[in-house]
Amino acid sequence: MKITVIYGTERKERSTTYHLAQTVIDALKGEDEVKTFFLPKDMNQFCTGCFKCFEGHQEKCLAYNQIKPIQEAFEEAELIIFTVPVYVFHVPGQVKVLLDHFGFWWMVHQLNGKMFHKQAIVISTAAGAGMKSTVKDVKDSLDFWGVGRVYSYKKPIWAAHWTEIKKDQQDKMKEDILKVATKIKRRQHTMIPRVKVKLMFYGCRLMQKKIGLNDVDVAHWEKMGWLGKVRPWKS
Ligand SMILES: Cc1cc2nc3c(=O)[nH]c(=O)nc-3n(C[C@H](O)[C@H](O)[C@H](O)COP(=O)(O)O)c2cc1C
Repeated sequence: MKITVIYGTERKERSTTYHLAQTVIDALKGEDEVKTFFLPKDMNQFCTGCFKCFEGHQEKCLAYNQIKPIQEAFEEAELIIFTVPVYVFHVPGQVKVLLDHFGFWWMVHQLNGKMFHKQAIVISTAAGAGMKSTVKDVKDSLDFWGVGRVYSYKKPIWAAHWTEIKKDQQDKMKEDILKVATKIKRRQHTMIPRVKVKLMFYGCRLMQKKIGLNDVDVAHWEKMGWLGKVRPWKS
């Protein structure tokens, strides 16, 4: 399976989310190459609010050289993995920075139709609490990108580091996340996108047809045939 991983931090051996991601990757990657990006190393430039991407000139974004390989990896992936440890009840700042750069991909703007065929998993751990709001930070974008299926794995670990967790607890976490990996594997060749993202598509389609706030967005939807009979999950 073609996998793209966004690691929310650069921690490895002592990171719980990193180890859980490895469990999923080992179960699913097969012979395919895994594309990995560590934040903030691989994307360290804030969105400056220049609006170039929304205006159809993404290549003029100051961060384009860092965004482009990540965007291509998203486009190629069958599965997108986000590791997001809870930082003050939300994603680490560098993850939000990455997501901001993909605001133009939200389906109210320049939706990428390939997303309906993809699956994603958001892996979040905390010392105690805050996983729900943290996963939502990422899931909001995955939903608005139109990702067909989105799973999450959330766990309080009552520790700071993977190395502080007892072996039997580590094994139980791996066992639990492997159950999610099994669901992902089962859907690999028979991906039917969620009703939710299809309904969101129809809502946005109506908006483009009736209101059409941004000419670039309307032209994009028109070009893709989505204002007519073409549907992204069928092509
Ligand atoms: C800056 C910072 C903020 C944190 N905020 C929270 C928090 O709000 N709630 C919580 O339960 N744990 C919090 N933690 C602990 C981490 O979420 C927890 O250790 C997590 O499992 C780390 O994941 P990792 O091992 O993959 O890096 C915070 C840690 C850091 C460094």
